[in-house]
Amino acid sequence: MNRGQILHEMGLSPIWELRELRKSQELREVSGKAPPVAMLSVAAAPDRPTVAGTAQVARMGWDELAATVAACRACGLCEQRKQAVLGVGDKSAGWLFVGEGPGAEEDARGEPFVGPAGQLLDAMLAAIGLARGQDVYIANAVKCRPPSNRAPEAGEMAACKPYLERQIALVRPKIVVLLGRAAVHAVLGKDDTLTSLRGKVFEYRDGGRNIPVIATYHPAYLLRTLPDKAKAWEDLCRARALMRAAKQTAAGELAN
Ligand code: URA
Repeated sequence: MNRGQILHEMGLSPIWELRELRKSQELREVSGKAPPVAMLSVAAAPDRPTVAGTAQVARMGWDELAATVAACRACGLCEQRKQAVLGVGDKSAGWLFVGEGPGAEEDARGEPFVGPAGQLLDAMLAAIGLARGQDVYIANAVKCRPPSNRAPEAGEMAACKPYLERQIALVRPKIVVLLGRAAVHAVLGKDDTLTSLRGKVFEYRDGGRNIPVIATYHPAYLLRTLPDKAKAWEDLCRARALMRAAKQTAAGELAN
């Protein structure tokens, strides 16, 4: 009896193995020799590593980042996605909004916040004089749709974090607005309730810069909890004041 049959008899199958490992073992069985190291990295796309290292991602430009995210297999969310959804908007925006993860419509269209929550987000942006794509970039904590629109798990957000960090570094926003708890977890590493986080200004350190960060309710939550829209409005007004202050400081620095 081989190992697989024994485990099956014990009720411990199916056996899950890393694809890379299985391929290398198959190769070893056929040739009787250890595979060359390059064979151990089976790429989802022929010219790209399945999981890029964090340091590698931190050096990427937009095109390479987009291609890497599109081929990413760093967590289980890749199994059921139609496509990965990197982000949308002005790539040198002052405002960066971070949501949770793509839903069904985003997964189908490849753009964040295009469903009902996205319509509310657009209305929220308009209320403070902003528009998608104009000085605004929108990203998510995870780039692939969590099945049944469940919240992303900590491990999934950790796997996706280098991509979000690289987006922040490339955009160089003047302010980051976190929409909901998953975004807070992904960017600030905090698991507190939104109620306890609202009204505070956090900082995200990007290289030598400290970027102000605020947290507010996710638009999908606001669609279910209309009374909290007023609180989200307060948060956006606070963010707008922070942005004005950041612009004044920058203008002052230029004048001196
Ligand atoms: N909710 C999110 O958090 N992000 C999207 O892109 C869509 C819905």
